[in-house]
Amino acid sequence: MLAALFRCAMPTTCVVGILWGDEGKGKVIDYLAADADFVVRFGGGHNAGHTLVLPDSLPTAGKIVLHLVPSGIVREHTVNIIGNGVVVDPLHLCREIAMVQERGIPVELGRNLLISERAHVILAAHRRQDAWGEQVRSSGRIGTTGRGIGPAYSDRCARVGLRMGDLIRPDNLRRALQGIAEQKNAWFGPVGLESIDVEQQFAELSEAGERLRAGIVDAGAVLRRARNDGRRILMEGAQGCLLDLEQGTYPFVTSSHASTGGSFSGTGLPPHAMRTIGIVKAYATRVGEGPFPTELHGEVGERLRKAGNEYGSTTGRPRRCGWFDTVAVRYSGAVSGADELVLTNLDVLQGFDTLRLAVAYRLPDGSLTEQFPAFDLERVEPVFEDLPGFTENLREVRRFEDLPANARAYVQAIEQRTGLQARTISVGPGRDQVIKR
Ligand code: GDP
Ligand code: IMO
Ligand code: MG
Repeated sequence: MLAALFRCAMPTTCVVGILWGDEGKGKVIDYLAADADFVVRFGGGHNAGHTLVLPDSLPTAGKIVLHLVPSGIVREHTVNIIGNGVVVDPLHLCREIAMVQERGIPVELGRNLLISERAHVILAAHRRQDAWGEQVRSSGRIGTTGRGIGPAYSDRCARVGLRMGDLIRPDNLRRALQGIAEQKNAWFGPVGLESIDVEQQFAELSEAGERLRAGIVDAGAVLRRARNDGRRILMEGAQGCLLDLEQGTYPFVTSSHASTGGSFSGTGLPPHAMRTIGIVKAYATRVGEGPFPTELHGEVGERLRKAGNEYGSTTGRPRRCGWFDTVAVRYSGAVSGADELVLTNLDVLQGFDTLRLAVAYRLPDGSLTEQFPAFDLERVEPVFEDLPGFTENLREVRRFEDLPANARAYVQAIEQRTGLQARTISVGPGRDQVIKR
């Protein structure tokens, strides 16, 4: 009885990106998955790119970039779930599974990879709509990944979407496709978009459905049972709090609930005791359009991009780089309910004479604020605190006390300004390049 109570009280861990994505969630999930029975992705789609660098001691050593398959797949003991909050391009998923298998990592649908039957499907038509949407917005472009994410989520809201469970129900699939074609073809033609061919789509999606059939399940029920049995669940966020549809820098956001709130609606697990870990780089990056107060446009930004190899894991686009922003991190920390931070890429700051932390914003009227505004973010000027840099290479450091004094002071200043402890610090892309405090 007591043991059962203890197991129920054991917290689930939710990992979320704190800024605009690419904070190193993949690496951190891989690290934490050592102690997880289940890893569940709760939102986004193959707009995400999560990079893992597996140790040389493994036959699967080296870098792997996952877009849809949860990052726990590389750990033999974990069950990986694509939750109902994810939008799935079934053709992409088949290709990604094959890619992972070719790397020598076992993927068995129904055993270590499950897909929620409630997850919505991204159609080829959604990709066409995504590209068209960006084209007609011209100056207000979002800079999407072009994967059809926004249109798929829009159809979900409009209640005309297709779910993964429909792929293995031929009558449902045909009926739903006919309905979608009626709606979309009415305007696709007039704006010059290729219309939907129901028979072709039916054949393609049925085939993908057959390939994925063994993995398409009631994933929420699996997770609720697992939680009641005291199994350890790791929720894998995609994107970041500032790309969250509602809490982020709207309209320059993605179309899902990327912050912690999405972990409940996107998995079917009700709110419960949970530890939330916010991942943030030791500097800031952003891909795509939208305001970015601490962005560096000149030589220093270029140097950060080079040192951190800051190119998108999904689209290869150069990431915009800037200084650490404590105003934004404090906001995201509060919105996500982060209990602690994992600070990644500290090693990248080696050799910068001065490290800058934005500690407030100056508003257009000259006043100062420490609040993260919902409007006019592109018009604020960051106010910086400057700290001395460090010259040492941090990649082999494994204890906080062994970090150079200036690196320690930088981390402590971040902690003080954000009110969050960086209990884990990452000093390289590899699984073991971690300082645990
Ligand atoms: P995610 O989308 O949050 O999973 O992050 P991405 O994989 O898109 O981007 C993070 C990048 O930083 C990847 O290239 C990682 O291999 C790399 N990375 C993660 N942690 C560290 C670190 O501590 N130091 C360095 N130098 N690179 C890191
Ligand atoms: P991970 O999980 C960084 C950005 C796009 C664009 C905006 C909307 O790897 O951190 P979308 O295609 O989602 O409609 O694009 O969101 N974006 C990301 N940026 N990392 C990601 O994922 C992202 N997923 C979407 O660049 O600005
Ligand atoms: Mg990424």
